[in-house]
Amino acid sequence: MSSHALPRCVLVVGSGGREHALVRALAASPGRPRVLCAPGNAGIASDVTCRPVPADDVPGLVALARDEGADFVVVGPEVPLSLGLVDALGAAGIAAYGPKADGARLEASKIYTKEILLKYAIPTAEAAIFGDADSAIAWMRQRPVPIVVKADGLAAGKGVVVATGRAEAEAAARDLLALGAAGRPPAGGAKILIEECLTGEETSILVIVSGRDYVILPTAQDHKRIGDGDTGPNTGGMGACSPAAVVTAELLGRIERTIVRPSVEGIASEGIDFRGTLFIGIMLTPDGPKVLEFNTRFGDPETQAVLPRVESDLLGLLWAAAHGHLGGTPLVVRPEPAICVVVAARGYPGPYPRGDAIGLPPAAALPPQTQILHAGTARDAAGRLVTSGGRVLGVVAVGPTLRAAADRAYAACDSIACETKYYRRDIGARQMGRT
Ligand code: AMP
Ligand code: GLY
Repeated sequence: MSSHALPRCVLVVGSGGREHALVRALAASPGRPRVLCAPGNAGIASDVTCRPVPADDVPGLVALARDEGADFVVVGPEVPLSLGLVDALGAAGIAAYGPKADGARLEASKIYTKEILLKYAIPTAEAAIFGDADSAIAWMRQRPVPIVVKADGLAAGKGVVVATGRAEAEAAARDLLALGAAGRPPAGGAKILIEECLTGEETSILVIVSGRDYVILPTAQDHKRIGDGDTGPNTGGMGACSPAAVVTAELLGRIERTIVRPSVEGIASEGIDFRGTLFIGIMLTPDGPKVLEFNTRFGDPETQAVLPRVESDLLGLLWAAAHGHLGGTPLVVRPEPAICVVVAARGYPGPYPRGDAIGLPPAAALPPQTQILHAGTARDAAGRLVTSGGRVLGVVAVGPTLRAAADRAYAACDSIACETKYYRRDIGARQMGRT
């Protein structure tokens, strides 16, 4: 662990449930640092001071950190990382947790990541890269369906099409090439990646990385589809549980050996001094674990389920990682499982209403070891708590078993008054019985 004194004032960047979980964990650090958040949301603002600087305003965030005397910045979302927020903070002499723009490219470009995975022989889906639709379609005609078409750049979860039929695959290739990841073609033209379709259960492995050192956080499983039984369209994530009980100690050992260690080593060998979270999306295929993607930040909603299980001081871990002193840091984990049920606005991930009033039970009325984290919430002109996003709240509970944790979380979800609330009923169900 770092021998450097811990920071006195920490700025968390972002406004989701992930950032609310980070704010709570950092504020609970034994040194009781001052914690600020930009821009935050209505729930984060009940815990700590929020400042209305958007998460993609790099100069504004550097100025805010300087003006507030923040001596550490923890960056939640991917956009400021790829815009170079950590580089800009470093130039201003402010320490930050999160990769610089060179490391953030591992999330911002799926083609770049695929090249690194292949170069370092890390198991992943077979893939080919195309810059024009005709060659992509000709290649796909030689391959079986389902097949996966991916835009190269950041696409807020909309850049991946798992096509079950040929017409869908060809339309996806044309659309993603014509539009690019951000909905408009990038300079130099869009590129796509076409991948073999992997099957199996997914798991999220979050790794705190500092150069060649790393600490693997407790495993988690996201629930990406909107409907019970993993049906309907993909979302940002409708809930998570930790551990992902499907990942036995033996399987985790294999994941560390074949994926985590070579990834961390490979990234360092590329000359990237990565100090932040490497979030590895993994498919547990019949041929073994394979990488689906890298993200270069904490997962949302995985973080909400993982952090309540981390007994070690999170601030100390992130501060050590940011300073290159992570080596040998032990991680103390609570054995009890945790769950996060996302309460969304009905209609999400399509169009949904905003401004619906939310009535929350008082903290004292919640089941034991249960908390409500905020994501898309705001205050209206009258100061009432209202919905302001697709994913509105994250209800997090810890329990002696995953079933007990889920019962606590769902009791709290049921007691939330909000006409347009919607949540899945089966978060964690697949892992129950395995724990
Ligand atoms: P990604 O952003 O690359 O993780 O893709 C988002 C989601 O698409 C993943 O969580 C998977 O559910 C699915 N996906 C991505 N790549 C593949 C693949 N090669 N085979 C099957 N499903 C995939
Ligand atoms: N839970 C998936 C993500 O954070 O991208």
